[in-house]
Amino acid sequence: MIKLYDVSKTYGKAKEKAVDSLTLEIGSGEIFGFLGPNGAGKSTTIKMITGILIPDSGSIEIDGVNIADDPIAAKSRVGFVPDTHDIYETLKGIEYLRFIGTMYGVPEAVLRENIDKYADLFEMKGALGDMVGSYSHGMKQKLSIIAALIHDPQVWVLDEPLTGLDPQSAYRLKKLMRERADSGNTVFFSSHVIDVVEKVCDRIGIINHGKLVAVDTLDNIRQSDKVSLESLFLTVTGEGE
Ligand SMILES: Nc1ncnc2c1ncn2[C@@H]1O[C@H](COP(=O)(O)OP(=O)(O)OP(=O)(O)O)[C@@H](O)[C@H]1O
Ligand SMILES: [Mg+2]
Repeated sequence: MIKLYDVSKTYGKAKEKAVDSLTLEIGSGEIFGFLGPNGAGKSTTIKMITGILIPDSGSIEIDGVNIADDPIAAKSRVGFVPDTHDIYETLKGIEYLRFIGTMYGVPEAVLRENIDKYADLFEMKGALGDMVGSYSHGMKQKLSIIAALIHDPQVWVLDEPLTGLDPQSAYRLKKLMRERADSGNTVFFSSHVIDVVEKVCDRIGIINHGKLVAVDTLDNIRQSDKVSLESLFLTVTGEGE
């Protein structure tokens, strides 16, 4: 579960808040899609949920643990796939995964099992003995996805995870997101690709200029004959007629 209460963040002396009084609750078993135009505040929100940025005000809880009160306990419950994959280039893929697993205190047997399972799923087994520096963009992204699951996190946060993946990997990732949610975990991901969000999510939120301008279930949006997700998106972000 992720709970944000009245969270705001301004970068430096910027006039506009990057995130402005955001209150949002995402339950266990749910895939939540976070939509918004470029610069809307998606990545800033995600960086606060994952503890990389500290909010100026407001509070964030991960499965009942307040990040400000106990950052380690909160972060240990989160797996994060960032939108850039600046992974240590001079490590082998396997060394990177073992390093991450050790940092999260994953027992050896579980570490082996999870590396095996996810590397197999994303067809990365053959590449794990190679240096990360030799990987393609998509391979780094897949390594990043595997690394975020090594400790079996209750909360999985992904920033633009489908950008740059081939159709097979994108399909497998979407399936995995559903499986993790169905087994009681929370999945939160950002995107500007409406089709993807429409296919994968249970609920969506739309952010514009740092403010949450819409939150609804996909079922509700589908049942309304007038509003498609695309037209809702365009209307609440100021592009609709
Ligand atoms: N490190 C930074 N320093 C200053 N301003 C920043 C920084 N990072 C983001 N911003 C600003 O904060 C606002 C929100 O940016 P953010 O990266 O959260 O948007 P986003 O919704 O993730 O956009 P995109 O779809 O392009 O990834 C933007 O106005 C952006 O210019
Ligand atoms: Mg972003």
